[in-house]
Formats: sequence, C-alpha cells, structure tokens
Amino acid sequence: MLKKKVEELCNRQVEREGYSSILYLAMASWAEQNGMAGFASWLYAQADEEKAHMLKFVRYINERGGRADIPAFSKPPVDFKGIVEMFDEVLKHEQFISASINEIVETTLAEKDFATNNFLQWFVAEQVEEESSAQAIVDKLKLGGKNIMYQMDRDIMKLRD
Ligand code: FEO
Repeated sequence: MLKKKVEELCNRQVEREGYSSILYLAMASWAEQNGMAGFASWLYAQADEEKAHMLKFVRYINERGGRADIPAFSKPPVDFKGIVEMFDEVLKHEQFISASINEIVETTLAEKDFATNNFLQWFVAEQVEEESSAQAIVDKLKLGGKNIMYQMDRDIMKLRD
C-alpha cells in the first residue's frame, strides 16, 4: 500500500508527465506549421514517450492500491520564438522534471518505501538520457546557426536511434 505522501507526489508526476506530453505536442505542431518536419517528428515522438511515462505512473499507483487521478492539463503555449528558444525550453523543462523525480526519490527514502524507490530508478536513468539529448540539440543549434538548422531538421530523427 502506498503511503499518502508518496501517492500524492506520484499523482503530481502524472500531471507533470501528461503536461510534458501536450507541451511537446504543441511544439511539434508549431514546428510542422513552420516547415520543420524533422523537428516536428522528433517532438511528436517525444510527446508519445511522455504519455507512456504518465501511464507508467498511473498504473503503478493503482497497482500499489493507491488511486491515480487523471487531472486537467494547462493549455500549452501556441507560439514559440524560434527553434533554438524552443529546444532551450525543452531542456529547462526536462531539468524541472528531473528535479521533480528526485523529490519523489527523496521522499521514498524518508518513508522507507523501497518498492517505489525501485520503480523510480527507471525514471532517474531516463532523465539522464532526456537531459543529455536535449542538451546536445541545444548545443548543436547554438553552434551552427541557420545552416545547421536545415541539416538538423533533415537528420534529427537519427538522434533517437
Ligand atoms: Fe518524462 Fe521527459 O520526462
């Protein structure tokens, strides 16, 4: 049985992973509208991954005898300044998600909930990867300016392999 505090934080994470999914969906749609099909594909795929992350939390909470709440999500932005700013935002958002996961990990230790701690280790590893791939895209975009943007739009899906 999940302790109340851990259940609340896991439910908070359901909302955060779900919001990540619609945030990336909004970014994908913007990229598509602005002729960047490669970046759009990457972001659509990322939105699917975030939905899967949300589901992992929903199912884990229920499996442990808790109650997973499906929340309403805030509306994500419609407009973005540009692709560099957008990926800067992706990176910042992933850092926020990592901090959020770490907070739950900390709570599981305080509450001696080692099963949830074990469940969260997958997310700890996943966040290392997500931050590093967002950072790599930001670095490339900042280094290369406009030329690299078109090249990256063509090649970005290879970064997911
Ligand atoms: Fe599920 Fe990118 O955090």
